[in-house]
Amino acid sequence: MTAGLTSNSARDIARSLLANSDGADTTASAAEVTPAVKAPPAVGKPRRDTGRQFGDQTGVVAARERAARALAMGELTGMPNPLFIPRQGPNTSVIEGPYGATTNFSNYNYLGMAHHPKVIKAVQDAVGQYGASASASRITSGEIEIYPRLERRLAEIYDVESAIIATSGYLTNSGVIGFLLGERDAVVADALIHSSVVTGARWAGARSMTFRHNDPESLRGVLRMSRERFDRVLVVIEGHYSMDGDVGRLPEIAAVAREFDCAVMVDEAHSIGVFGAHGHGVREHFGLPGDAVDIWMGCLSKALGSCGGFIAGSAEIIQALHTSPVATLTVGPPPSAAAAALAALEVLESEPQRVSQLWHNAKLFTAALRERNLNLGFSEGTPIVPVLVPGEIQVLYASSLLLQRGVYVGPVAAPGVGPGQERLRFFVTSEHSQEQLVTTADLVAEVVALATDVGAALTM
Ligand SMILES: Cc1ncc(COP(=O)(O)O)c(C=O)c1O
Repeated sequence: MTAGLTSNSARDIARSLLANSDGADTTASAAEVTPAVKAPPAVGKPRRDTGRQFGDQTGVVAARERAARALAMGELTGMPNPLFIPRQGPNTSVIEGPYGATTNFSNYNYLGMAHHPKVIKAVQDAVGQYGASASASRITSGEIEIYPRLERRLAEIYDVESAIIATSGYLTNSGVIGFLLGERDAVVADALIHSSVVTGARWAGARSMTFRHNDPESLRGVLRMSRERFDRVLVVIEGHYSMDGDVGRLPEIAAVAREFDCAVMVDEAHSIGVFGAHGHGVREHFGLPGDAVDIWMGCLSKALGSCGGFIAGSAEIIQALHTSPVATLTVGPPPSAAAAALAALEVLESEPQRVSQLWHNAKLFTAALRERNLNLGFSEGTPIVPVLVPGEIQVLYASSLLLQRGVYVGPVAAPGVGPGQERLRFFVTSEHSQEQLVTTADLVAEVVALATDVGAALTM
């Protein structure tokens, strides 16, 4: 059931999916989880009992229903489930898996660093020298010399006094915001900010607010209404938006933040290695001095082919972070991860053509999709290219159809994006060939039309 999908068969599929998604009983109902009463339930609530304490928790219910719908689609249609597909070998432009050699757009290995021979060699050397784990937090016996070398290089790249790396990118945002802010403070973030920032505000006990995506005037409005009520206010944006592929309007947003005496933080997760002629991120892209921003945050897990996060900023902040929970209450990054990121930064310097090739590919792919009249949302022709396919079932279906045709792209639905914003999110890398990009654009146009048929049938 592929290219020959008729509107009748689309309707049948849609109906079965709907019937299944409504009826798929993946969760225990409240009645099922209520056992014979052994003790009076607390304040009139039904008992849940051992092993069933979270079966009716909203997030658990929603996640299990989503998984059941994906499974139902596979079972009903015989189509591949595009979630959690196993892969052999490195995550690059072609992956080997259960569907054979598949052109892959679902990794953020933008520059091919995760499998670059020099990066692999650095990892092997670090494991040989230091073992597989830091085996302690940095403040005790976890410290190794690769960490400060990597941190010095990151500080140079961001033109600031100092930097610190941490074991996870997500925890870098959450832990650092959680540490730096308190109950009298607020985080004012772009509406499309990564969830790790929102988590950080919650950990801090700070007030969390948003302004309209990439809109300095909306930020001004929020600050005008609320700035006086808080001690510190941290304005947070992304350099390169991870779901939408547009560029944070840093100069204008920072100017508004400064008007209201706010601190500025930029999440460079998808910018370092991608923006700027040398891949030094949006600071280089906009030609800004390092101190235009108080906190530069970034990930080692994307273009730097590794795992972990970093903060670059003033010596005062970084010194404090060295004794904060992100460095003391969690293990130091694996030596191999720090070595990989450091080697990737060296390759970035010696092979700058990787960055220009990445942009060449991003422009080519975006233009090819636009020529085929696809809806690319906020895309600005960067290496993150969303193709909107509204509807959870439709986007899953589109992704499955592509997988059948030898192309893998991750479907994004809730909770990654809001309802109606479902999309296929393509990560273009410097490793893709022109032929892969153009062929994929043709296939995307074809499957989006088929998925739209399913969507139309769903509403009939
Ligand atoms: C914008 C942004 N910030 C932070 C993170 C968390 O990074 P990590 O996956 O390295 O933990 C991500 C993850 O994709 C991200 O997209």
